[in-house]
Amino acid sequence: MGFPDFFMGEFSEDTDFDETALDAARRELNDGPEAPREFTFACRIQDIPSDGQRGKVVEMDRDEVAIFQIGGELFAISNICPHENSPILAAGIVHCEAMTVTCPLHGWTFDMASGTMLSGTEGVADSGAIGGLGGIPVYDVKVEQDEVWLRLRE
Ligand code: FES
Repeated sequence: MGFPDFFMGEFSEDTDFDETALDAARRELNDGPEAPREFTFACRIQDIPSDGQRGKVVEMDRDEVAIFQIGGELFAISNICPHENSPILAAGIVHCEAMTVTCPLHGWTFDMASGTMLSGTEGVADSGAIGGLGGIPVYDVKVEQDEVWLRLRE
């Protein structure tokens, strides 16, 4: 796929870009250079429901995260269902054996370990709501004493 004619008219293939300026613009746009992701304190383990049926919601950077405890294991995924951007997955329907959570609003289902969307596109593919969606953000979990720490998985 090429650029439209009106766009190509302003540049030739020989156009030299100022890579330094381009880099500076990227950094400004992204709030500075990419820093290695660090674990961030999220909550205490006793704050997370232990029955696996509900998640604990915490604020992390620019995301809302749902932390689930299933069989003594912790899973942290974005709380935001990408269909309509609803902050609701912590209250989703948890399938403990399959390690999945289903959005209670319209049934989109996500794998808790990987964030992959497993189902939910049927019947709404033409609505424009999906747009190449592959899943939701997932967080690595670290427990120290009774503290739960999260790091956005790359
Ligand atoms: S808002 Fe989650 S499936 Fe519609």
